[in-house]
Amino acid sequence: MKTLIANGTVVNADASQLADVLIDGETIAALGTGLGRVAGEVDRTIDATGRYVIPGGIDVHTHMELPFGGTFAKDTFETGTRAAAFGGTTTIIDFAVQSRGRSLREGLDAWHAKAEGNCAIDYGFHMIMSDVNDASLDEMDGLVGEGVTDFKLFTAYPGVFYSDDGAIFRALQRSATNGGTILIHAENGIAIDVVAAQAVAKGDTDPYYHGVVRYPIFEGEATNRVIRLAEAAGAPVYFVHMSARDAVETLQAARDRGVPAFGETCPQYLFLSLEDLGNGFEGAKFVCSPPLRPADHQEDLWRALVRDDIQLVSTDHCPFDFHDQKQLGQGDFRKIPNGLPGVEDRVDLLHDGGVVQGRISKERWVEICSAAPARMFGLAGRKGVVAVGADADLVVYDPAKVHTISASTHHMDVDYSCYEGRQVTGASELVLSRGKVIVEGGRYVGAKGDGRFLKRAVARDHLV
Ligand code: URP
Ligand code: ZN
Ligand code: ZN
Repeated sequence: MKTLIANGTVVNADASQLADVLIDGETIAALGTGLGRVAGEVDRTIDATGRYVIPGGIDVHTHMELPFGGTFAKDTFETGTRAAAFGGTTTIIDFAVQSRGRSLREGLDAWHAKAEGNCAIDYGFHMIMSDVNDASLDEMDGLVGEGVTDFKLFTAYPGVFYSDDGAIFRALQRSATNGGTILIHAENGIAIDVVAAQAVAKGDTDPYYHGVVRYPIFEGEATNRVIRLAEAAGAPVYFVHMSARDAVETLQAARDRGVPAFGETCPQYLFLSLEDLGNGFEGAKFVCSPPLRPADHQEDLWRALVRDDIQLVSTDHCPFDFHDQKQLGQGDFRKIPNGLPGVEDRVDLLHDGGVVQGRISKERWVEICSAAPARMFGLAGRKGVVAVGADADLVVYDPAKVHTISASTHHMDVDYSCYEGRQVTGASELVLSRGKVIVEGGRYVGAKGDGRFLKRAVARDHLV
């Protein structure tokens, strides 16, 4: 099957050009002007006049079907990857979970079983390590060889995913030799639990207090501590879902002195704030960790994104219905399952809030949504770029289309939207995954199981 995408503005992270894109099978075969001459030889020509042609979005932080807080994240690999496709994302990297007392292998196998044959788009896995011991450290090396090259550890959630400094240091040391990357959820969970218990004892049980007790300084402290551990271990480190100025300043200072430390943030920290956690139990819709911060943290995150102190934006997509699931925490914010939906909204929110608002160029938008994720997570050359030889994961994007985000029209399997009623400019019009059109005219035209597991390369050489 040959497809020609004609007359679009091809936007890559390094440059944009008016060009045609010829797809042969699953890959991009040619890129340039005047490819219209082959129009008679192709199976389909898509006219992209007035549209951007961008590499499909890569969301490196999702949690489909994650068991959390006594329930499961509502999107399955089927519903979540389909929703991602509607939003212009053609690759996700999800977090497989090692349960305490179990091996990494068992956790990874369980995630393969959930995803295989169900995904609309390509997918990879990171591994959450909840039990660092001699056996699981040995297993890390094997997983790196299988293309599961990153390991998330937590300084938060004592009794669940929490690792102490010794465990984190051992994992960092191991990654220094096996080429994997350690990803850190940095909040001081032990201190947070003290403040949270004090708040509940005073009767401060509403969702709002979830945001109050998880101080920004606790994120800054944990970020600094792990950066120093990584320096001692001689390993790079990557901070997931950065939310607070305190953490960003720490990361920036480390990078300025040449430490290979990296970070991502998420749309919720750029567009939402602590105020959203107010309004009684409605605030439960916005409970995630780290929590939404006072609005003045947002500009620091944007500045870091512009300066490349934060390299990319993921979603931390982890949806729970407001009814039944978030309501598990009525009367005690500590029992509200943590996580927000967002996999479908990221590309549009960043176009609207970033490019349209004049904070970043359209090339930087492609960098933080797609190119940097590919480079930093072992997919360079295959994904994140419109170039000859790359997978034809492409989005024909209408930069002028205005639409309103709403739970009544989104495709994520969750009963609310954090951005209900927000008008955004920019929308994915047509989405291709490895050369096949999967979203067109507002309809899903792909098939469950189109998405394949991505065995990722060690990204060390690509970390910049
Ligand atoms: O609130 C969040 N972020 N839920 C998902 C789990 C995690 O910490 O990433
Ligand atoms: Zn986390
Ligand atoms: Zn997460």
